[in-house]
Amino acid sequence: MSVEDDLIAAARQTRLNAHAPYSGFKVGAALLCDDGTIVTGCNVENATYGLTICAERVAIVKAISEGRKPLGFKAVAIVGDTAQPTPPCGACRQILWEFCGDVDVILANLNDVKGRHRLAELLPLPFDGRLLG
Ligand code: THU
Repeated sequence: MSVEDDLIAAARQTRLNAHAPYSGFKVGAALLCDDGTIVTGCNVENATYGLTICAERVAIVKAISEGRKPLGFKAVAIVGDTAQPTPPCGACRQILWEFCGDVDVILANLNDVKGRHRLAELLPLPFDGRLLG
């Protein structure tokens, strides 16, 4: 199995832990650190709806809180049960940019239909800390 397949498998497995009773839409994400370790996340919904946290952001905050930021991140995989591979929402693109920069974004659905993008392609003209001087 390739690293890409490992990442998709990890995202797919974590997706099963999603707390998505309101939308019924489960998402899994897997973040590849530069040392080869993988940090996963699933979406965690809330009855207020607005406090829902996306799978990608769960993976990012887990990785940061576990002290993995100095390692750097080189790819993220996202898996959802959609006809086409599930793309990250706009807010998650921005959060991924903050911590990962222009990484590979690997998308997949449950039928193994895959897509691969660079984050800069998904988030052109990003706002980031460099603009703050
Ligand atoms: N969701 C994610 O986890 N990641 C995304 O990038 C898009 C949306 C979740 C949030 C919510 O729990 C459900 O999918 C439906 O929007």
